[in-house]
Amino acid sequence: SKYTVVDQETCIACGACGAAAPEIFDYNDEGVAFVILDENEGTAEVAEGLFDDLDDAVEGCPTDSIKVETSPFKVLVD
Ligand code: F3S
Repeated sequence: SKYTVVDQETCIACGACGAAAPEIFDYNDEGVAFVILDENEGTAEVAEGLFDDLDDAVEGCPTDSIKVETSPFKVLVD
């Protein structure tokens, strides 16, 4: 399984990830990327059919802001 999340602190809104993986990544009003699947919580499993796109996005991100894990990312609780 794969889960992904964008580190919005380091994303420079370059726009590459949405081009590589338009079904996974979109941008907020400031151009900062987020994961469409789960509002950037990293808790929704990425479909296997999107793994190639995900790999392309990870490799193409100039700031290594796209994180991928094999289990869900922890949701931060206020
Ligand atoms: Fe940001 Fe990297 Fe995408 S800098 S817009 S997460 S390719």
